[in-house]
Amino acid sequence: MADMDDLREGVNFGLGQASQLDNFHIKGASNLGWGMKDRLSRIFNPKTGRSVMLAFDHGFIMGPTSGLERIDLNIVPLTEYADCLMCTRGILQSTIPANVNKPVCLRADAGTTILTELNRNVVIDIEDAIRFNVSAMAVMVAAGDGEMEAITISNLTRTADLGNRYGIPVMGVTAVGKQMARDSRYFSLASRVCAENGATIVKTYYCDGFEKVAASCPVPIVIAGGKKLPEKEALELCYNAINDGAAGVDMGRNVFQSEAPAAMIQAIHAVVHNNLTPDQGYEMFLDLSK
Ligand code: R5P
Repeated sequence: MADMDDLREGVNFGLGQASQLDNFHIKGASNLGWGMKDRLSRIFNPKTGRSVMLAFDHGFIMGPTSGLERIDLNIVPLTEYADCLMCTRGILQSTIPANVNKPVCLRADAGTTILTELNRNVVIDIEDAIRFNVSAMAVMVAAGDGEMEAITISNLTRTADLGNRYGIPVMGVTAVGKQMARDSRYFSLASRVCAENGATIVKTYYCDGFEKVAASCPVPIVIAGGKKLPEKEALELCYNAINDGAAGVDMGRNVFQSEAPAAMIQAIHAVVHNNLTPDQGYEMFLDLSK
């Protein structure tokens, strides 16, 4: 381990300066192979470099939470508006028609449910990811969790090794445990740890100072939505995240728990890809909800 004495926090993030190494439309992907780039390009629109991922993997720890009681009724009709679907193999296999023709970011780790303590000690077989023709695999990293940090980093590293072998990108999902601060210092560390251990996409949370989180992460960041917010606030969250350097969103509850989920995902899409302001996005949401 490096000498921790005089460990200094970063101060020079080159904010406002684009990465000097990228000639591909996805941050940090210039040196990747063709298969990786092709899969990443299915997720991140080559025209905008951005993505609206629809997350509905919550059931793997929460069971049939509100808005996800019936994936066939609640989620399948929304898939046409998403750039990528994030779910488990169980839902993909049982409920998502294979002809929706959307890239999939497969939830690749598992462990416990919300009924017990956070624990992810299982990673699915790479052969399943290949069989499902997924465009990425998602694995959580619990930085700062004494029990789970090493196990989850090892999960990510192993998944990245397998992904590299077959050209499948890995998304590192930064956990937010009860004892972890939800601030830019924590999310910068957790995001960077994911990227350094092989993630080609990072999913984290928006926070004050997010521009530093995005600037110091060498791969694209998508933000989770978190708990359900009023629609206008959720659109503000998307707008601010994109403005501060996120390459997209990976949202669940703020879409499927909305009063009008199809209207909401279309409004989010317009904010992310077409730079609509939150007011314009909200107007669009209201129009489409009628
Ligand atoms: C949670 O188990 C998953 O990782 C979700 O995919 C993630 O939290 C995004 O969903 P939400 O926008 O509802 O937070």
